Amino acid sequence: MDKRITPVRLEFQETRTPYSPMFKDVYFQAEQGIEESTYIYLNGTGFSEACKNRPEQKQFTVGEIGFGVGLNFLLSYRHFLEHSKPDQKLTYLSVEKYPIHLEDLVSLYSRFPELSSVSKDLLDQYPVLTPGFHSLSLSGGRVKLILMLGDAHELFPQVELAGNPGIEFWYLDGFAPSRNPDAFQDTIFASLSRISFPNACGASFTTASWVRRSLESLGFKINKRPGFGKKRECMTVLFPTAKPEIQKKSKNAKIIVENPVFLKSGDSIAVIGGGLSGTAIARALANRGFKTTIIEQESIAAHASGNAIGMYNTQLSRLPNPISRYSQLSLMHLIRELKELSIVTKKGILRLEDSGDGADYTEALLTSEYPESFYEKRDEGIFFPECGMLNPKKLCETRAQHPLITIILARAAQVEKQKYGFVLKNEGGSEILRCDHVVYATGASQVRDGFLKHPMLSELPLKSIRGQVIYVEPTSESEKISCALVNSGYITPLAPEITGSRNHCVGATYQAKTVLDDQEKIDSVKLLEEARQKHPAFSDLTEASIQSTRTGYRLSTPDKLPMIGPLYASELTLQNQEWLFLGMGSRGITFSSYGAEILASLMCGEILPVEADLWEHLRSQRFILRKLKKTSAPVKKLG
Ligand SMILES: Cc1cc2nc3c(=O)[nH]c(=O)nc-3n(C[C@H](O)[C@H](O)[C@H](O)COP(=O)(O)OP(=O)(O)OC[C@H]3O[C@@H](n4cnc5c(N)ncnc54)[C@H](O)[C@@H]3O)c2cc1C
Ligand SMILES: C[S@@+](CC[C@H](N)C(=O)[O-])C[C@H]1O[C@@H](n2cnc3c(N)ncnc32)[C@H](O)[C@@H]1O
Repeated sequence: MDKRITPVRLEFQETRTPYSPMFKDVYFQAEQGIEESTYIYLNGTGFSEACKNRPEQKQFTVGEIGFGVGLNFLLSYRHFLEHSKPDQKLTYLSVEKYPIHLEDLVSLYSRFPELSSVSKDLLDQYPVLTPGFHSLSLSGGRVKLILMLGDAHELFPQVELAGNPGIEFWYLDGFAPSRNPDAFQDTIFASLSRISFPNACGASFTTASWVRRSLESLGFKINKRPGFGKKRECMTVLFPTAKPEIQKKSKNAKIIVENPVFLKSGDSIAVIGGGLSGTAIARALANRGFKTTIIEQESIAAHASGNAIGMYNTQLSRLPNPISRYSQLSLMHLIRELKELSIVTKKGILRLEDSGDGADYTEALLTSEYPESFYEKRDEGIFFPECGMLNPKKLCETRAQHPLITIILARAAQVEKQKYGFVLKNEGGSEILRCDHVVYATGASQVRDGFLKHPMLSELPLKSIRGQVIYVEPTSESEKISCALVNSGYITPLAPEITGSRNHCVGATYQAKTVLDDQEKIDSVKLLEEARQKHPAFSDLTEASIQSTRTGYRLSTPDKLPMIGPLYASELTLQNQEWLFLGMGSRGITFSSYGAEILASLMCGEILPVEADLWEHLRSQRFILRKLKKTSAPVKKLG
C-alpha cells in the first residue's frame, strides 16, 4: 500500500448522471439508476430478502468492487436500517482505486434529496483519501463500512477474516468489462472466493461471455436473469461451496494460530485501566452493544493520559514502514472519531524545517501516502492543517460516556479464572466484579508497580519510559503563535479552551534509562532550553517562567507498535477471553483510536479493518511468533 491515491473529479451528464472522465462511463443513470442498482445488486444477490426474512441472523456482510459514488452502499444501508432488527449488524466491505473527491460527492448527493437520510452519514464520515483500510462506523455502530482505497488486486488478498465466516453478498460493479477488464480478472474472483461464505451470492449487470467463462472455470455457477428496463439480461453468480480457509497460517508453516473465543451476545467485559487505551476499547465494545466496565484504580486518565494537552500528528518515514502506515491509519480514524464525539481541538501543527531528529520530512512527504491537501510547505517548515492538539483527559472522559459503560474505581489485583469468565478481586481479596472477558489496558503501571498479579502479563516484552512536560507562561510575542511548533520536541500555542490555562506546554522528554533523583529538574532545564531554541518568542524564558511540570510513563514495545489481541503464554498458549491492549508508546492519542477498532473487531469475530501484512506487526503474539520462527519450532497447534 505504498502508493498515493489518485482521486477522480466527477463530471455530470445532464444534471443527475455522474460520469467518470477516466473510464468514459457513467456511474449510474439519473433516471431509474436507484431502481436499477436495487434490482441488480440488492435483489440479485438476495440481500434485500435476507434483511427482511432472517431475524435470527445477527451479522450481514456485503462485499463490493468498486465503491464508486457509493450508491450501492447507500441503498444497502438504507434498506438494512428499514428492514432489519435493532440487534442485527451490517458490515460492508468495498474497494475503490479511484475514489471521488468529497466535494464532488457532496455536489452529487445534493441532487438526490431522496437519499439524504443516508447520504448525510456517509458524507460526515467520508475519509481523507489515503491508501489502505478505513473503518467507518454508522448508525451508532450498527453498520460498518470498511472502505479499502487502492487496487482490488492488491487489497482483497489483504483482507483478514480472523474467524469471520466471510462475505455473503457480492456486488461485482467495476464499470463495463469492455472499458475496465481489470476489475473482472480471474485473480480477483479467486481472492473474493477466499473471503466468502460458502455459497455466497454475487451479482453483476454484465453477462460478457469472457467474464462468465472465467468465473465458471473457477467453479462459480452463473444464472442469467432478465436485465433491468430495456437491458436484455444480467447475472447472478453462486460462489463455490468450498469452505473458505479461516485459520491463519503464519509464514512459518509449522505454526498455526487458531482463532480465539469471540464475544457472544450478552457477554460482559471488564477493561482494566481508564486511560486512552481503556476508554477507547470500552467505547468500541459499547458501540457494538456490549456492557463494559472500566476498572480504574485512581480516576479516568490519572496517569500518562492525563496531560492537559497532547498532540495528534503524522509520523513519516522516507519509505512507508509499519509505524508510518499504522500512524496514518490511526490518524485518519482519530479525525473521524473526534468529529463524532465533538471533541474540542486546536488544529495546525508546524513541523520545523530544522527538525533536529535527522528526519527529512520534505523528502518523506514526497514519497508519503498523504494527499497534497494534507500539508503545506512553508518557509519555516511543513504545516499540517488537519493535525492538532486536544485534551487527552477530556477525550478519555468523553469516550467513557456511553450508556453501556460503567466505571468502577478499584485496583484490580487478581483475575481469577472461572468455568466461563473471571472474577476480579482487589488487593484485599474482595470481589470487584464478575465478567466474561477481560481487556488489559493498564498502561505503564503494569510494568512499574505490578499491583496486578498475573504471570503472563509480566512475561510481555514491555518497557516503561518516563516523559515530562513543562507549562510556561507566555511572552507578549509568544501569544501570537497560533500553531504547535514541532521538531524532536514540541511547544504548543496558547489554547485555554483545551488546557484551561494561559500557558504553553513544552514537551516531552524521553527517558528510557535510569531515572535520577533530580530528573525533574534536569528535564525542566532541558525543555526550557529547547523552547528557547525553537522560536525567538521564547528566547527570554527563564526558570521562573515555569508554572508547573507533569511527569508520566509511557508503555513501549520493542518495535514501537501496540500489542493488540489475545493474551498468550510464552509457548503461544492462547488464554481465551483475556485480551491485550497495551504499548501505545508516545502515540496514545492516535494509536488508541484505531487499535480499539481493530481489537473490538477481532473480539467480535468481525472482518479486521487492517491489511493482513500490517496486522502481522500489531497482533499480540508477534514477539512469541518471531522467537519461535528463529528457533524453527516444531509443529504446534494452538488453542
Ligand atoms: C510527557 C508525555 C507526553 C506525551 N505526549 C503525547 C502526545 O502529545 N500525543 C500522544 O499521542 N501521546 C502522548 N504521550 C503518550 C500517551 O500519553 C500514552 O501513549 C497514553 O496516555 C497511554 O495510555 P494508556 O491508557 O495505555 O495508559 P495510561 O494513561 O497510563 O492508563 C492506564 C490506566 O490504567 C490504570 N491501571 C493500571 N493498573 C491498574 C489496575 N491493576 N487496576 C486498576 N487500574 C489500573 C492506571 O491507573 C491508569 O489510569 C505522552 C506521554 C507522556 C508521558
Ligand atoms: C461502476 S463504478 C461503481 C459504482 C458503485 N458501485 C456505486 O454504487 O456507486 C466502478 C468503480 O470501480 C472502480 N474500479 C475499477 N477498477 C478497479 C480496481 N482494479 N480496483 C478498485 N476499484 C476499481 C472504478 O474506479 C469505479 O469507481
